[in-house]
Amino acid sequence: MIRYALSAMALFSTLVLAEPLTQLQAVEKGKKVSSELLQTLGNHLQERIQTKGIVSGVNFCSQNGLVLTQKVAEENNVTLKRVSVHNRNPQNLASEEETKILVRWNHLKEAKKPLPEYEVISQADGGYLYYQPIVIKNPLCLQCHGKNVKPAVAKAINALYPEDNAKRYKIGDLRGMVVVGIPK
Ligand code: HEC
Repeated sequence: MIRYALSAMALFSTLVLAEPLTQLQAVEKGKKVSSELLQTLGNHLQERIQTKGIVSGVNFCSQNGLVLTQKVAEENNVTLKRVSVHNRNPQNLASEEETKILVRWNHLKEAKKPLPEYEVISQADGGYLYYQPIVIKNPLCLQCHGKNVKPAVAKAINALYPEDNAKRYKIGDLRGMVVVGIPK
């Protein structure tokens, strides 16, 4: 009897685990992973700037931006990136599909309409793609992404990213987006 109950429970939990991921669950996961990523990057960067200054912050981003993104992705079993149409790191250039979304969001901004908190698209394989805008809210961002970047900072950035296209932003601008690929 006990054995029967146990195997029934095992069967039940297998069935529950095999349930397809709902859109609501995907959104929850996307939100969680995005805020974890932005907080991780933000906290580490702020600490580096406070202890070693802004130029050292440039090196911090360059050495750790993608590494920390990959770490958060692995911890959460998702794919993860930050992309932009006016990017700094060539590896963060938005794809054609992603560009369409960013252009659409920029049109909303120009029309002074609010941006969606996120967008989510279901994939043919049962997974989801979750997109979340990154808007410049903190004046700190402008020290490396604004129009009046200090010469020493600009020099450090240009040495690492000769094709840099990310020194043009002001508060309230759409900087790019987080893209989370959530498997089914
Ligand atoms: C100390 C300089 C510095 C500061 C401050 C800074 N960034 Fe960056 N940012 C960089 C560098 C360098 C890269 C490229 C390296 C990488 O891949 O992360 C980058 C990349 C990015 C990217 C990825 C897209 C791309 O262009 O490569 C986003 C999005 C971004 N920054 C947003 C922000 C936001 C939002 C803030 C403020 C909270 C901020 N940054 C503050 C230096 C900085």
